[in-house]
Amino acid sequence: MDNMQPLCLVFLFLCSTLLLQWSQGCHPHDRSALLTFKAGITADPSGLLRSWDSATDCCSAWDGVACDAATGRVVNVSRPGLFSGPDFISDASIAGSLSPALGDLFSLRLLDLSNLKQLAGPIPPALGRLSRLEHLLLDSNQLTGCIPSAFANLTRLRKLSLGNNRLSGSLPPSMFTSP
Ligand SMILES: *[C@@H]1O[C@H](CO)[C@@H](O)[C@H](O)[C@H]1NC(C)=O
Ligand SMILES: *[C@@H]1O[C@H](CO)[C@@H](O)[C@H](O)[C@H]1NC(C)=O
Repeated sequence: MDNMQPLCLVFLFLCSTLLLQWSQGCHPHDRSALLTFKAGITADPSGLLRSWDSATDCCSAWDGVACDAATGRVVNVSRPGLFSGPDFISDASIAGSLSPALGDLFSLRLLDLSNLKQLAGPIPPALGRLSRLEHLLLDSNQLTGCIPSAFANLTRLRKLSLGNNRLSGSLPPSMFTSP
């Protein structure tokens, strides 16, 4: 019986390692999409994305990121840093562009990168792939160009806020037809 003990310990160790990995649910696909977005950020003076570290779990440790507990897929990305640090969000800013990689967050329901003031460049048409998106808030930045026609595919969208940017053109007419 004595020689069974080490085996049991190994078994317990394996079990707890598996459990840990299971509870650290961040889907690698989503983590890499978020890190690609972060790589497109050129200045983050208030450290809003400081917690977005590839060594930690994006579901539990990254500010502004929320996941579906069962699948580990990212469902919400909302103004990172809002609840952390001494900075009041309205004084905070992020400079850089919106990576098309955000379009890879297939389960995303809420994307709120509003009032970050310095996000510039075009809205990537890839965001039109986010077929589960319900809230898209990108207002109060420096975004330029047109609203992508691919947004016609955002059939679940209930709230869209793009004001206070430098966008031109209009919404794709098909966005107003009922599903
Ligand atoms: C995502 O955001 C929505 C809308 O604010 C909220 O109702 C929902 O609980 C959030 N989901 C998670 C997993 O935090
Ligand atoms: C909308 O989605 C369909 C099916 O996924 C795709 O074939 C089409 O190209 C998309 N439209 C736009 C404008 O991206």
